[in-house]
Amino acid sequence: MNELIVGLKERSYPILIDHGCLDMIGEDLARRKIANRYCIIADSTVADLYGKRLLDELRHNGMDAELLTFAAGEASKNLPTYGDLLSELARLGFDRRDGIIALGGGVTGDLAGFVASSYMRGIPFVQIPTTLLSQVDSSVGGKTGVDLAEGKNLVGAFYQPKVVYMDPHVLATLPREEFVGGMAEVIKYGIIYDHEFFDYLRTHRQAILARDSDVIEKILSTSCRIKAEVVAADEQEANLRRILNFGHTIGHAVEAESRFTIIHGQAVAIGMVAAARIAHACEMLAEADVEKIRNILREYDLATEIPTAMDRDKIRYYILRDKKIVSGKVAYVLPTDIGKVVVTDAVDEGVINDVLA
Ligand SMILES: NC(=O)c1ccc[n+]([C@@H]2O[C@H](COP(=O)([O-])OP(=O)(O)OC[C@H]3O[C@@H](n4cnc5c(N)ncnc54)[C@H](O)[C@@H]3O)[C@@H](O)[C@H]2O)c1
Ligand SMILES: [Zn+2]
Repeated sequence: MNELIVGLKERSYPILIDHGCLDMIGEDLARRKIANRYCIIADSTVADLYGKRLLDELRHNGMDAELLTFAAGEASKNLPTYGDLLSELARLGFDRRDGIIALGGGVTGDLAGFVASSYMRGIPFVQIPTTLLSQVDSSVGGKTGVDLAEGKNLVGAFYQPKVVYMDPHVLATLPREEFVGGMAEVIKYGIIYDHEFFDYLRTHRQAILARDSDVIEKILSTSCRIKAEVVAADEQEANLRRILNFGHTIGHAVEAESRFTIIHGQAVAIGMVAAARIAHACEMLAEADVEKIRNILREYDLATEIPTAMDRDKIRYYILRDKKIVSGKVAYVLPTDIGKVVVTDAVDEGVINDVLA
């Protein structure tokens, strides 16, 4: 069992990582006394795989619990689904001493977290992330919310869970494409923060792709420790937290221009190579390190180049539209070494154009 504390003063909470912990959550929650009654929120796929099992377990441990589901997929992360879930809670008579359990990927965590943050002005919230992406990224940091037709994640709140449970075993059922996409974020942590972890990922590729539990536990705990450190130092994304955006400026543009046919992790992988090339062009990063970054991504079946057919003007348009822009300047997170990045808004447009070409 790995226990990690996300240090946010009075809102600090533990992340518990252990194989098989899914079957011990009932017992552990009963001890913690976070809420009187729980509503598990899960998408249709995860509800079938793990929802009923968790519901039975909570009830078996003497807790009153319900399970609410919604159709799997990003398309459900919207205001109508959010409204339906709130209405369901009201109909079921949930009150402010009751709690929400988000069981699922990032879509469920963001949606259920936003429900928890706003139902009766906020009720206790527990996260059980079940995708690699949600375990290493979206379940740490307290960002919750939904999409609007006008853009992704435009409505939401910062809201921290009381506890997060991660069971490496649940990744066994995750489609390979989703797993590989999550690996882009894992590799990102190595590049921005931890050279040793980067080397570990290079040398343990086979065991990781085979989803060996011990190795997965190590990558979950290291990734969460890094994200937790960054987030604890800077909860509201003023400064340090921006380093987590490595690969995402160009990545988001590629993702948007592909009309989301290129999945997030693949787009971020492309964005990380582009950022490394920009850093090299600015004489901040050695060519050999650009190659190392490109190679590790390739080894994990991640994309490294912007598709040639993709319209470069559109990509430039999306980069400029990125919501992280401050006073018209695009901030790029650039590696200066494996394990170290800087944030700069002083990149020459010519350099960007060369890298995009
Ligand atoms: N809050 C944050 O800080 C943050 C950070 C990164 C991403 N996000 C958000 O996360 C979302 C993406 O998350 P995601 O990639 O987890 O998507 P997701 O929640 O849609 O899950 C992907 C798919 O995997 C299925 N699934 C989940 N767990 C499974 C399992 N164990 N076995 C089999 N299938 C399983 C789901 O049903 C779904 O079809 C986006 O909406 C993104 O905006 C949020
Ligand atoms: Zn990401």
